[in-house]
This record gives sequence, structure tokens and C-alpha cells, in this order.
Amino acid sequence: MATTRRSRTTTTRSGNGRPAPDPEYGRLGREVQGFGEIRVLPIGLTEGVRDESCQALNEILADTTILYALYKKHHWNVAGPTFYQLHLLFDKHAEEQLELIDLLAERVQALGGVSVGDPRHAAELTTVDRPPDGAEDTPAMLTRLLRAHETIIGKVREAIETTETSKDWGSNDLLMGDVLRRHELQVWFLSEHLVDVPLIKAGTS
Ligand SMILES: [Fe+2]
Repeated sequence: MATTRRSRTTTTRSGNGRPAPDPEYGRLGREVQGFGEIRVLPIGLTEGVRDESCQALNEILADTTILYALYKKHHWNVAGPTFYQLHLLFDKHAEEQLELIDLLAERVQALGGVSVGDPRHAAELTTVDRPPDGAEDTPAMLTRLLRAHETIIGKVREAIETTETSKDWGSNDLLMGDVLRRHELQVWFLSEHLVDVPLIKAGTS
């Protein structure tokens, strides 16, 4: 039996009213929720509070997306005698930032907002400095990462205060328990690589 090609927008196979099994590939629609709009969710927080939290969380999310990419860039480009150690450390930190991205994004959704998802959107919102497209030396990489952490930590501390005032305890707990502590730990691990300690002590007779 000859087969005929159906239109990509066909929704029923035979016109008998049954749903067709074909995926509706090719269909693009309007936005159902604009960025910055807040859905109604019955979690006991006003729309104003949820909006305020979403804005703060989305800014941190955008910065975190950029920091994740910065870690991967440095994971690939690091060079020198500490290559292997930093290669692994940068990847570990990147993975941990990736976990934070998911936690932050899902918190925005749980508040009824739309989380920043597209890296190009994140790039528009972030205040983390853009690195050169080429490769920097290792101390510059470490300094750049520390500055990015400091930028984000400043926003996280502000958001902790904001969410404490508004009693958005879910966001407050996430920001303090997961985000802030993870950043502080990563800053410690990075900073130790900028201490000029000789591997072998100079001999004194
Ligand atoms: Fe890798």
C-alpha cells in the first residue's frame, strides 16, 4: 500500500477524533509565562515576596552559570607544574557549581518564577567579569575565579538578609546552607594555591 507523507502539523491520523501517536514536531507556540512573571502557587508567601526572591535567585543563578563555564574553561586551559591537581580541582568545583545551578533554578520554579536557563540570557544578566577568550596563566586564572566567587558571595549575603526579612525560609536555607557554604569552601581551596610556599625548604646548615 502506498504511503502518503503527512503534514508536520497533522494531529490526527485518520480524522476519527482519536489522538494521534505522532509527535507534534515543528510546533512552536507563544510564551506561556514571561520572564519576571510570577505564577500563583499556594506556598504561603505573597506574590511580592516570591517575586523579590526570584529576582535575587535568578541573578545568582546567572552568575553561577557563568562561574561554572569559567571553571570548565580553566579546567581545559590550565598549564604548568600544578596542571593535574588544578585540572581535577577545577572540574570538581565546576560539578559542584552545576549542582547549585539546579538547586537555584528549581527554587525559582518552586516560587512560581521562570529560571534563567539559556547561557546567553545568563551572560546578559551576570556581573561576573568576562575573561579573555584566550588562555591566561595559572595565577590569573585563580585570581579571576576568586573574584567571581567574591561577586557571587556578596549577592548571596544580601539575598540571605532579604529572604530573612521576608521570611522566605526555603530560599534562605538554600542560600545559607548550600550556596554560601559551598562558595566559602571553594574560595579556601583556591586561595591555598596562591600561597607561595616552597616545596622543599631552603637548606640551612
Ligand atoms: Fe574534563
